[in-house]
Amino acid sequence: MSRYSIFVIAFFSFFSCNKCYQSFTPGQLWFDNNGVHINAHGGGILEFNGAYYWFGEHKIEGDAGNKAQIGVHCYSSTDLYNWKDEGIALSVVDDSTSLIVKGCIIERPKVIYNASTNKFVMWFHHELKGKGYSAAMTGLAIGDKVTGPYRYVKSVNPNAGVWPQNYNPQTADTSIVNPYKRKDPQWREYVEGGVYLRRDFNKGQMARDMTLFVDDDGTAYHIHSSENNQTLHVAQLTDDYLDFSGKYSRVLSGESNEAPAIFKRKGQYYMISSGCTGWSPNPARSAVAPHPLGPWKALGNPCKGSEEQVSTTFHSQSTYVLPVPGKEDAFIYMGDRWMPENAIDGSYVWLPIEFEDDQPVMNWQDEWSY
Ligand code: DGJ
Repeated sequence: MSRYSIFVIAFFSFFSCNKCYQSFTPGQLWFDNNGVHINAHGGGILEFNGAYYWFGEHKIEGDAGNKAQIGVHCYSSTDLYNWKDEGIALSVVDDSTSLIVKGCIIERPKVIYNASTNKFVMWFHHELKGKGYSAAMTGLAIGDKVTGPYRYVKSVNPNAGVWPQNYNPQTADTSIVNPYKRKDPQWREYVEGGVYLRRDFNKGQMARDMTLFVDDDGTAYHIHSSENNQTLHVAQLTDDYLDFSGKYSRVLSGESNEAPAIFKRKGQYYMISSGCTGWSPNPARSAVAPHPLGPWKALGNPCKGSEEQVSTTFHSQSTYVLPVPGKEDAFIYMGDRWMPENAIDGSYVWLPIEFEDDQPVMNWQDEWSY
C-alpha cells in the first residue's frame, strides 16, 4: 500500500468515526460525523432526553451566506465533542409571499421544549427580505420532534401596547431630545427616557439579537436587543412559550448590548453579552441579577489575557452559555468567530467560564475538555 493510500484511509476513517473528538479546540474547524465543518452559527443548545441538540444558522459561501438561503441547521451529540448532522430543522421557502422566503435574515435561533404541550419551540431573530435590519422581529416555529421539521408560525415585534414593568411613562424624564448621538453625555438619559420605547409602543418593540432562557420553574424568557440596540429587553413568554406574556423589563438602558446569553448559578442569573460592532468582535460584558427580569448589575469584561484577547473576546461574540453536563458550577461559553466575507467559514469559540469572587471569568485555551 502506498503512503498516499494510507493517508487517504486514515483521512476517511478519521472523519467517518463517531467519536473522533475528546476535547474542544476553540476557533478550529470542527467536523461533524460526515467530516463536514459544523454549520450552526449564532446557535444554542437544547438538552433533551439525554442528548444535546445544537441549532444554528446554516451559512453558505460568500457574502450571500449572511442571509438565510437554507434555514436552521440541527446537530445532535451525547458528549458535546462529537456532533451528528440531523439536517435542516427549519427551511426557508421559495414562496415570495412568505415572510421566511429565501434571502430573508434568520439569526441566532434557539429551541426550548414545552413539557405541557410536548412541542419544541424555536424563536429566532428575523429580518424581512430586502429590508436590511429594519424589521427587527422575532420569529416563531414549532416542531413535534426535536430535530424537526419546524413549522414557521409568525414573526412579531413583541409587547405592542405594553410598558415594561420598570418604566413609568408618567414619570419618565423625556426632556432630553436629540443629543449628539452616543458620544453625548446625555445619550443614556435620552434612551432611558424612552425615546425608542415610546416610538415603538403601539407597533411593538424591536427585537434583534436574541436568546431564550428557561428557569427551573419552567418559566421561559425571550431576551433581545431592543430600542435600536440600545437596551436589552427580558420578556416573559406565555406558559406554552408561543407568545409574549406582556411582562417584561428593560435591562442596561443605553448600554448598547448585543448577543445576550443567560445562565443560572447559585440562585443568581448571569449574562454574557457584547457591544454593537457588526460582525467585528468587541470586548464582552457580563452582568448579574437576582431574577431574569432584573435588576441587572454590570460586572465588566469576563475575559482575561492579552489586550488583544480581552478587547476581541478571543475573536468571538457570545451566542449561548451551556451548563457543563453533570458538573456543579461549570459552564461553557459558546461564541461565534464570524467570517462575513465567506460566512460558511465562521468557526466556534467554546471556552470554560469560571468564577472568581462570584464574577465570571474566561481564559483562552488552545484545547480543553470538561
Ligand atoms: C452582530 C449580531 O450579533 C449578529 O448576529 C449579526 O446581526 C451582525 N451583527 C450583523 O452585522
